[in-house]
Amino acid sequence: MPPDPAPKDLFQKRFVIVAGKGGVGKSVVCAALGLAASERGLRTCIAELNTREKAPLFFGKRPSGYAYQELRKNLFSINVLPDPALREYGLMKLRFERVYKLVFENEAMKRLLKVIPGMNELFLLGKVFNMEREKKRDGTPLWDMVIVDAPATGHGVSLLRLPDTIMKVADAGPMAEEVGAMRALLLDPRRTAVNLVTLPEEMPVRETFELAAQLEGSLGMPKGYLFVNGIWPRLLSDTDAGLLDALGAVLPESAYRARAGVESLAAMVERTRFQEQHRAELAEHMPWPRVDLPFLFVERFDESAIARLSESIVTQLAVLQGQAA
Ligand SMILES: Nc1ncnc2c1ncn2[C@@H]1O[C@H](COP(=O)(O)OP(=O)(O)OP(=O)(O)O)[C@@H](O)[C@H]1O
Ligand SMILES: [Mg+2]
Repeated sequence: MPPDPAPKDLFQKRFVIVAGKGGVGKSVVCAALGLAASERGLRTCIAELNTREKAPLFFGKRPSGYAYQELRKNLFSINVLPDPALREYGLMKLRFERVYKLVFENEAMKRLLKVIPGMNELFLLGKVFNMEREKKRDGTPLWDMVIVDAPATGHGVSLLRLPDTIMKVADAGPMAEEVGAMRALLLDPRRTAVNLVTLPEEMPVRETFELAAQLEGSLGMPKGYLFVNGIWPRLLSDTDAGLLDALGAVLPESAYRARAGVESLAAMVERTRFQEQHRAELAEHMPWPRVDLPFLFVERFDESAIARLSESIVTQLAVLQGQAA
């Protein structure tokens, strides 16, 4: 299947969502994209949603919770937490602390908010939605790019579906207006792009197909790129792999060290073969423009590792966008 044209310019979107299965490298991709954007001079913020913060750690900083923290020039992060998000929202709408306390810190109201499904998530989404439209004193946007590190697959989808779900039950009033504006942002290809991250492995690839089908189908969101992360280098040519098999077959039982070496090399070769199959499967069934990211053999995933992935992303995006132009 030939890939669809790449979105015109990812760095011109203000609302960049990164989604995918748990543990596939979403936070790493957010950090690498954030670094690339900040180096272009875009004032960028990575928003993690109510999770154990990763973004600051990659840049040698401590988690900062619900506060914008500068990680490097032009790059910030925040952990969006439901309670302060609700508080901020309440204060924004109700203006006065006293009124806020009366309304939201009233025990009955607190209990009510806890039992309404999706309410916490709505405040998380509300905060990132507000970040997209937040202005500086001079009226210009506070952020050129907000990168949303979405929760893993199932939760991510229900989060993105939330405005739609709420619109179905509350189609009038201030709540509907607010949620309608959120939905408009999620569907707006000028501002928004949803990117997916996967590993070239069985389960992540399955989930990616499902996620893509939902995003493009019932959610109808504008798509960005598919990041295929953790790609192993090809260690041996087919001929050398054949020789390795032959060597394994003739090594005597007693040469256990040599056998262990051959076996572990053979396992690595096998892994790259599996990865190649899954990458071919992605290429065949999923026409999203693709960015391949190498597996990095590093002790610690720090800023220099992020920088390597970031460079790789920038190079590949330039090629893809050149093709799309
Ligand atoms: N390209 C890579 N090469 C080597 N290791 C990687 C690579 N990408 C990610 N990792 C490792 O995998 C770990 C998990 O990545 P990351 O935290 O980005 O996943 P995630 O999808 O955000 O996970 P979660 O769903 O838990 O939020 C990283 O801390 C890093 O150690
Ligand atoms: Mg993560």
